[in-house]
Amino acid sequence: MAHIGILTSGGDCPGLNAVIRACVLCGIRRSDDTFIGFVDGWRGVLDRNTIDLDWMSVRGISKLGGTILGTSRTNPLGEGGGIEHVRTNLKALGVDVLIAIGGEGTLAAAKILSDAGIPIIGVPKTVDNDLSATDYTFGFDTAVEIATEAIDRLKTTGESHHRCMIAEVMGRNAGWIALHAGMATSAHAILIPEQRSNLAEICEWVQKPFRRGRAPLIVVAEGFISEEMAQPHYARGLDAFNRPRFGGIGERLAPIIEERTGIETRATTLGHIQRGGVPSASDRVLATRLGIAAVGAVHDRDWGSMVAVRATDIVRVNLAEALDSLKTVPQQRYDEAAILFG
Ligand code: F6P
Repeated sequence: MAHIGILTSGGDCPGLNAVIRACVLCGIRRSDDTFIGFVDGWRGVLDRNTIDLDWMSVRGISKLGGTILGTSRTNPLGEGGGIEHVRTNLKALGVDVLIAIGGEGTLAAAKILSDAGIPIIGVPKTVDNDLSATDYTFGFDTAVEIATEAIDRLKTTGESHHRCMIAEVMGRNAGWIALHAGMATSAHAILIPEQRSNLAEICEWVQKPFRRGRAPLIVVAEGFISEEMAQPHYARGLDAFNRPRFGGIGERLAPIIEERTGIETRATTLGHIQRGGVPSASDRVLATRLGIAAVGAVHDRDWGSMVAVRATDIVRVNLAEALDSLKTVPQQRYDEAAILFG
């Protein structure tokens, strides 16, 4: 029997509640474990702000978006925290082990705390799907579904007005959501941070379908920049025409494309809609499996490990492995999609 702390940290993500539920139910059934949840991620650890988690408090929560624990981007090693502060608070609360559910920042902090001897198990989470050591992260499937539905809608209004439509999706460092939603919606171009396309080829991808009587559709990840945008004048806050730039990448591309091609262009940023609401069935299943596996790791005293999915299996990896590098879209996956551009 263990007293287990759970926290959700970083940007929220559909499926977090399914992990929490699975941990609590599995721990109770397996060995009468008791649970507390830290409110707002590491902030709750630093402030000793907790809620009790029992059978009743996790009833029916798998299908709820967000996280019942709340989240924040608090760094436990800064902002008035530190290794000893965390250790003292966990001890005072009688926590035997902490299950930290989060993305790169959360897991990096978990690794440092774990190296300092604090028992921690990691559960990977991000809609961006860019964590290495796991094939997929829960939340990604839901985000792609939401983006696909929204882009399908943009297509019909684009076709009616003979406009080029740009859909900006999440993905600061990796273009997984753009790649999948773009393929699913038959986009004429998919622009991702891993591939620095130039404005001339982007305009060509827009003009080709327009000449065939189609409304061009571009799906762009928020972290994309074109070759030109990587030039120093961009860093000074100017666009390709030396005008002050504003807004996200979709908003920045729209006037450039309109000016260069003469095709009326509109941009829509999908933003946090991609992270909100009901998780897909597939994300609920993955999140539940990871929660059960995290409790397994607790009982094996496998501190410093992270649960992950490899093909169809749930495995354990070292937190260090999880932080090794960012999982970006491989060239071959991009080339496969790019054959159908334009
Ligand atoms: O890391 C996930 C993510 O959704 C990114 O794709 C996005 O850039 C970021 O979070 C948004 O963060 P915030 O919710 O803090 O604005």
